[in-house]
Amino acid sequence: MSGGSAHWEVAPADAVAGEVTVPGDKSVSHRTLMLGALAEGTTEAEGFLESEDCLATLGAMRAMGVQVERPGPGSVRVHGVGLRGLVAPKAPLDMGNAGTAMRLSMGLLCGQAFDTTLVGDASLTRRPMERAAAPLRRMGARITTTDGKPPVHVHGGAQITGIEHDLAVPSAQVKSALLLAGLYADGPTRVIEHAVTRDHTERMLQAFGASVTTRVDGTVREVTLVPPARLQACRLQVPGDISSAAFFLVAGSIAPRGSLLIRNVGMNPTRTGVIDILRLMGADLQIHGERQAGGEPVADIEVRAARLKGIRVPRALVPLAIDEFPVLFIAAACAAGETVLEGAEELRVKESDRIAVMADGLRALAVPCEPRADGMVLAGSAPGARPFAGGSIDSHGDHRIAMAFAVASLAARGAIHIADVANVATSFPSFAGLARAIGLDLREGA
Ligand code: S3P
Repeated sequence: MSGGSAHWEVAPADAVAGEVTVPGDKSVSHRTLMLGALAEGTTEAEGFLESEDCLATLGAMRAMGVQVERPGPGSVRVHGVGLRGLVAPKAPLDMGNAGTAMRLSMGLLCGQAFDTTLVGDASLTRRPMERAAAPLRRMGARITTTDGKPPVHVHGGAQITGIEHDLAVPSAQVKSALLLAGLYADGPTRVIEHAVTRDHTERMLQAFGASVTTRVDGTVREVTLVPPARLQACRLQVPGDISSAAFFLVAGSIAPRGSLLIRNVGMNPTRTGVIDILRLMGADLQIHGERQAGGEPVADIEVRAARLKGIRVPRALVPLAIDEFPVLFIAAACAAGETVLEGAEELRVKESDRIAVMADGLRALAVPCEPRADGMVLAGSAPGARPFAGGSIDSHGDHRIAMAFAVASLAARGAIHIADVANVATSFPSFAGLARAIGLDLREGA
């Protein structure tokens, strides 16, 4: 876990080749367990992400009396207990590093008859929870945070009221917490968002038989849930995680030579900001075989080396690529001309402060950059230059920072030492092996 001595030594490489199938989507995997637990009947899912974050949610559901079987790799069977069938856990629920597990659980738990305490690791314990707790209190929930952060106490027996809520921050986790609380409300719950955020909760609630409608008016979306009498178990196919695919999209774009085929990538339009941003930068991405899998669009993406150019990132794309900026900064360092990111202050409250930690890492590798309160300006580099000097960076236990700097080795002049990488297992346990298979010279140390 965070703060440990696990590290990577990544030597420069200059070509990529091969095919990658990225693991299942983290957001969909968390929701599969939660909705499966609250449903009636057995939910079967394939492509489930067996990472530490999702296993934290799995442990929490088991602690509340839900039987979850894991019949084979990527396969889960959740024996639902119904909306009112969870039982009080014997100990605090440990959500590890997973913000999604904690914030969505706050919504799911506030309508239960029993009390719960939610705790997390050092990184999660620094993250803001009032953004979910405050609107849930407006619904009648009785929640206390610790100076706005975990541990979070959710008191049972509250009467939950359906409300209309305007999201102050563009956050799918907050939207989802409110919709999950809305399952227990006495009337409809409406969440209004002014920037599009991922809509997996809406899609999946529908798949489990609930009535969720979305009204789009320009850039405003109104999502309304009518509390269902029950949720009905279903079969799910979890798409590959585009946030994990992003590392290979950038690897294929900045490597001097080669191409990659990335298979089974989730293409939900509320997640594809990374593709739009890379294409604006001049990336050569070809999308093949678009199809539907379990209510979500998926496709295979072929990526070839390209001469990237710096851009001003359109603000509307920021929430649609919110987890991809660490590796997009690596792409921007390799692009000709300046890249400007604004309106991305949310990056400061992710698993680490991703603006500060990326800026420190970029500077440690002699890449000039200007961190700002809400984003970053990167000067870019001459076409064909290898902008990253060798050096040491600290991921601060943030999985996406560690993987982003591993990708930088494809445009580096010396070896990159990446400290504190154990948390890569929270989202992408097989990253190091896949990275080596496509051409990275990555050595793991304990
Ligand atoms: C997620 C929403 C996003 C994202 C996180 C997963 C989700 O967080 O960064 O990795 O599954 O709903 P915010 O809601 O804080 O933007």
